[in-house]
Amino acid sequence: MNASPTKGLVARNLVQTYATGRRLFGPAETFRAVDGASFEIAEGETLGIVGESGSGKSTLGRMVAGIEAPTSGSISFWGETYAPVGSAAWRRQRRQVQVVFQNPAAVVDPRWTIHAQVREALTTHENLSRSEADDRAQDMLALVGLGNMGQRLPHQLSGGQLQRAVIARALVLHPRLVICDEAVSALDVSVQAQIVNLLLELRERLKLSLMFISHDLSVVRHISHRVGVMHAGRLLEIGDARTLFAAPRHDYTRRLLAAIPADTPRQRRQRDLTTFAGS
Ligand SMILES: Nc1ncnc2c1ncn2[C@@H]1O[C@H](COP(=O)(O)OP(=O)(O)O)[C@@H](O)[C@H]1O
Ligand SMILES: [Mg+2]
Repeated sequence: MNASPTKGLVARNLVQTYATGRRLFGPAETFRAVDGASFEIAEGETLGIVGESGSGKSTLGRMVAGIEAPTSGSISFWGETYAPVGSAAWRRQRRQVQVVFQNPAAVVDPRWTIHAQVREALTTHENLSRSEADDRAQDMLALVGLGNMGQRLPHQLSGGQLQRAVIARALVLHPRLVICDEAVSALDVSVQAQIVNLLLELRERLKLSLMFISHDLSVVRHISHRVGVMHAGRLLEIGDARTLFAAPRHDYTRRLLAAIPADTPRQRRQRDLTTFAGS
């Protein structure tokens, strides 16, 4: 899928630089958080992004989400180039890409029921009657397993339930692509497995593309079709998940892999069975 597939995202040579220090004379010093990343995400595909802290994963995610424009490089989304940040076209495009971050409590309003928050996401973007919006919010809450919890306030939910609510709020807009940036990293391992299984289910049902960013390779291996390895702002290698984990090409990837607990195939199967059993 080299020649610009219409159905999917194509990122070319993405660079993001940030100003680091002020200097009295001469140009400000800059730092390249992402340094020339190119990749595709096909419709229905999950691209995992791994790499240690500070390697540029979140910066890459923010550019793909359209939250910040790249310093250079381009993104084409289902055949359409990203519009300038803040423009009307950008607002329309932004709906098609939703992001789920690590800490759900930070992105919900503590005073509103979760049903109201899911409905609000919808009515902000679509012209719906109150009852239509109510129904769609309720259907989405049911889909993420919170069908009977819509009237709760955020503090009445567990971390995992709150992340489900945030996922419902993101998906109610029918995005094409969902970026999960360390979306399960703060949760207990058993809850992580539930959320990952939920994402797998929703991905199939809604034909979603996913960009799954995590420093936790065992979770990424489980959910991704392909995986990209970030190091110091560069995408060192990218490839089919099974191949990459079985035969990493870069030393850096090998070292990352070596840090995963339970390395033998047998232990791995065992762990995947216990961690990711059922749905
Ligand atoms: N807004 C910003 N201003 C300056 N530096 C930033 C900014 N955002 C990220 N960085 C720097 O860019 C690098 C990559 O950060 P980030 O994308 O958050 O990495 P990761 O998500 O892999 O941990 C880090 O060194 C970070 O300090
Ligand atoms: Mg990050």
